Amino acid sequence: MINIAIDGPAGAGKSTIAKAISRELGIIYLDTGAMYRAVALKAIRSGIDTGDQPAVESMVEDIDIRIEYKDNEQRIFLDGTDVTGMIRTPEVSVGASDVAVIPAVRKKMVELQRSIAKNNDVVMDGRDIGTFVLPDASYKFFLTASLDERARRRFNEITANGMTGVSLEDVKKDIAYRDNNDSSRSFAPLSKAPDALEIDTTGISPEEVVRIIMDTIKNRKTVGAAK
Ligand code: DC
Repeated sequence: MINIAIDGPAGAGKSTIAKAISRELGIIYLDTGAMYRAVALKAIRSGIDTGDQPAVESMVEDIDIRIEYKDNEQRIFLDGTDVTGMIRTPEVSVGASDVAVIPAVRKKMVELQRSIAKNNDVVMDGRDIGTFVLPDASYKFFLTASLDERARRRFNEITANGMTGVSLEDVKKDIAYRDNNDSSRSFAPLSKAPDALEIDTTGISPEEVVRIIMDTIKNRKTVGAAK
């Protein structure tokens, strides 16, 4: 099995790059953030505060999250319903970061992620893939970019999707909040695996980042730093 881990903070370009790599290699792409987003969506819909850990913990005891692929695109199902189009709001983004702090939530999501990686060649993106979910991944990459650039990218994505009433400053604040939350949690925080190749994507085109990663895979290079 080929397992490729791509980690990094919000807006570093993980999903764009991971999708392109999955197309180049003809393998599936798993967006693990979508799972934490689905948990947050369920909490929000149920009137549960995403910061209320005991309430979220009991909510996930019988949650049903499933991943399917339609025309090579990942669809995520929450309790039997396709919620793929409903998990990209700023409220769900912040809620996902909150519920992701809870070990019981992570354990459940990680089980599903590992079972997909066991049965499929996959490029998986997230925060803890190289460090915790797939410590033996064939290749590990850690993407970064400045906070300003990440906020700009997310803002452009949100407005391109037709969402209004969100300012660049709001997006920047949410990302800074999530950076702190995701990196400071005690269980499987956002961090670079020692054997991951770090790529600072600030000012680099997605095509260039894909080229660096594909060259690394072709040459079986695993450790180092690139810009
Ligand atoms: O990648 P994303 O922005 O869709 O992720 C949403 C949140 O989910 C992120 O702020 C932290 C959490 N997350 C995580 O803790 N571990 C992962 N592997 C993926 C996402």
